[in-house]
Formats: sequence, C-alpha cells, structure tokens
Amino acid sequence: MNNIVDMTKEHAEQVAAIESATFAEPWSRSQIEEICGKYGVIARVSLDDDGNVVGYYSYNVVCGDGYVNNVAVREDRRGEGIGKALVKDMVYTASLCGLEGLTLEVRSSNARARGLYESFGFEVGGIRKRFYQNTEDAIIYWLNVGGKEDFKRG
Ligand SMILES: CC(C)(COP(=O)(O)OP(=O)(O)OC[C@H]1O[C@@H](n2cnc3c(N)ncnc32)[C@H](O)[C@@H]1OP(=O)(O)O)[C@@H](O)C(=O)NCCC(=O)NCCS
Repeated sequence: MNNIVDMTKEHAEQVAAIESATFAEPWSRSQIEEICGKYGVIARVSLDDDGNVVGYYSYNVVCGDGYVNNVAVREDRRGEGIGKALVKDMVYTASLCGLEGLTLEVRSSNARARGLYESFGFEVGGIRKRFYQNTEDAIIYWLNVGGKEDFKRG
C-alpha cells in the first residue's frame, strides 16, 4: 500500500538519498528542500506504511505545461507498481492544475522508464543528440494532459 502526498522538507533527506543512489547528477538535499511548497512546483512522494519515502516526482509549471525534473523509486522497491502510481498521480495533479501538457527527457537506453511513460500515452516529441555526458541521446516525451479529461484517480 502506497500513500502519495505532497513533498515536505521532512522528506528531503530520504529523497536526496534516492537521488544520489539513482542519478549521475543528483539534486542535493538543499535543492530538494527549496522546491517543497514552492509556487509553481509540484513535488510529491510515495510513502510506505512506516512513512518512509519509497519514490517521488517533481515538475515545474511553465506557461501552462509541466516540465518534469525527476521521477524515481528507491532501488529495493522497484518493479512493484510504485512508479506507475507516481506517474498516474503526476497526470492527475497536472489535470487538476489545468495544465495543457507534461514533458520530460529520458535516456534512450532507459527502457523501463520509457515503457512506463508510453503506457500513460506519452509520445516522443524529439531527440536531443548526445545530451547525456555527450554520449547518450535524450528522448523528449510529451503528454497532452488537456486531452485526458476522462482521467480518473483510482
Ligand atoms: C523508472 C522507475 C521510476 C519505474 O518505477 P517502478 O516502480 O520500478 O515501476 P513499476 O513497478 O510501476 O513498473 C512500471 C512498468 O515498468 C516496467 N517494468 C517494471 N519492472 C521491470 C523490470 N524489472 N524490467 C523491465 N521493465 C520493468 C513494466 O512495463 C511496468 O509496467 P507493467 O507492470 O504494466 O508491466 C524506476 O525504475 C526508477 O526509479 N528508475 C531509476 C530512475 C529513472 O530512470 N527515472 C526515470 C527517468 S527520469
């Protein structure tokens, strides 16, 4: 059972630990604290039954679209549906905010994340060549949230 709630500064240490275990250029704890409750940023965490952070996402709202900063699940809890629940929540919060779309970048080799986004209807909008460490392409995904009016939480 996972409970998805707004990220607060209390979660920042655990989010930072997942960031640094996951990404080559992780956000620091202070960068994470900065986005908590910030106007124009949606940041949410998935908590286990003990209130520990098992996953999170954040996006910035710019000109009516959501630009996703990060989506991650703690390594020992991957493959249990937490990522899917987070992306579902992300689409739901974006539709509640009246956003037109959501966009994000992902490494071309990240098959799990790409499959996850595509299962929610994200479509490839472009490719940034050698975006990561000047070697790997970034795939740009878009989701038309405005076109998902029938989306229901559940
Ligand atoms: C990408 C990520 C967020 C997915 O979270 P997750 O909790 O592991 O994903 P879920 O368990 O919800 O599974 C979602 C889909 O991924 C795929 N998947 C899950 N486990 C998989 C595995 N071991 N191998 C390949 N695909 C897998 C499945 O298609 C699954 O959908 P399905 O259950 O309908 O078949 C997580 O793996 C992660 O944190 N990765 C590192 C960070 C990252 O890559 N973030 C995204 C780029 S910003």
